[in-house]
Amino acid sequence: MDTLYLDYCATTPLRPEVLREMVSVYETQFGNPSSLHEEGRKAKQTVELARARIAQCLDAKPTEVIFTSSGTEANNLAIFGALAEYLQTPTASGDGIHVITSELEHPAAKNCFRRLERLGVDVTWLPVPESGVIRVSDLEKALRDNTKLVSVMMANNEVGTLQPVADIAALCRPRGILVHTDAVQAVGKIPVSFRQLGVDLLTCSAHKFYGPKGLGILIATRRAKLQPILFGGGQERGLRSSTENVPAIHGAAVALDLALGELAQESKRLSALRDQLADEIALHVPDVLHTVSGWPTLPHVLHICLADVLGEAVLLELDRMGVHVSAGSACSAGTAEPSAVLQAMGVDPRYIHGSLRISLGRETHAEDIPRFVQALHTTVHQLRGKLTR
Ligand SMILES: Cc1ncc(COP(=O)(O)O)c(C=O)c1O
Repeated sequence: MDTLYLDYCATTPLRPEVLREMVSVYETQFGNPSSLHEEGRKAKQTVELARARIAQCLDAKPTEVIFTSSGTEANNLAIFGALAEYLQTPTASGDGIHVITSELEHPAAKNCFRRLERLGVDVTWLPVPESGVIRVSDLEKALRDNTKLVSVMMANNEVGTLQPVADIAALCRPRGILVHTDAVQAVGKIPVSFRQLGVDLLTCSAHKFYGPKGLGILIATRRAKLQPILFGGGQERGLRSSTENVPAIHGAAVALDLALGELAQESKRLSALRDQLADEIALHVPDVLHTVSGWPTLPHVLHICLADVLGEAVLLELDRMGVHVSAGSACSAGTAEPSAVLQAMGVDPRYIHGSLRISLGRETHAEDIPRFVQALHTTVHQLRGKLTR
């Protein structure tokens, strides 16, 4: 049985052409970029070429690009690195400063703010309206004289909604407040210009755009006055010590370039497939809530909530049929609690446990839509049948 992978928000397969490029780097450039000899210089050149390529793709300066081991690490560096100067009092207390984030964030940002709260930092959690889109007016009301950082993600990893990050930056910049955005789900899927967004810190992760796992990118302005959170050999201008992962860095640059080259065409193709999927589900599967409608979302993501079934049960049954989706966010799956984002959005209790995220990608084609809808119809029918028996 052919499997049908519809979980591209969780991760994407490495593109074969990226793998080939990475293998070539493994084979021909094993040097340490910090070594002064030729092997080292070759590896260093590969890193710097990748940095320039990524900077160009994201409309940033090469000096603003910092390589990390993941999106999670890039978020940690952005948040703790930007606030380091306030956290280094003898009592390690963040007393006296205020930061703002949202209930929408991925745990890779959310848990940084929970940690800051424990360090004494005053954190405002912006509410998530029913739309799944943060209200700039809520942010404006939350701003204070001692607000130092605002962090709001660019595209949500569960429901796919796009957040008004440029408007948030426009509000914060004149007040001297730093803005971070976790753009892990957005980069490679929708156009992202670091300059036009006007943020100070932006996080990406290569495995979401058909690049290697274990390679994150943080873009940071000089204004952010970032300080390191890892201490060691001083690589990445002292901001992220440890020997660079040269093949992955090269792979990330190649993958991003390829993703942006086909972005316009792919996003049009995938949003048409996504809309077709939504229509077919509405037609063939009763009692389904389309969680987000009427708001801008990622082109390849459809989030639904099914009444009277558990999303996890649907996921496992679909898995038996070779169909792979996510019950909410893969990264926070495995918990019986309904997703915090759906709770914050106030989703009807009858539907909230039946959450399903279907995310399309490069290998999704028109013939996959009826196959998925048929599998979903059968699964939901069976599970609801068991309930009423
Ligand atoms: C929005 C968002 N931020 C951060 C991450 C974490 O990225 P990584 O897996 O590279 O640590 C993810 C992963 O799913 C994500 O969706």
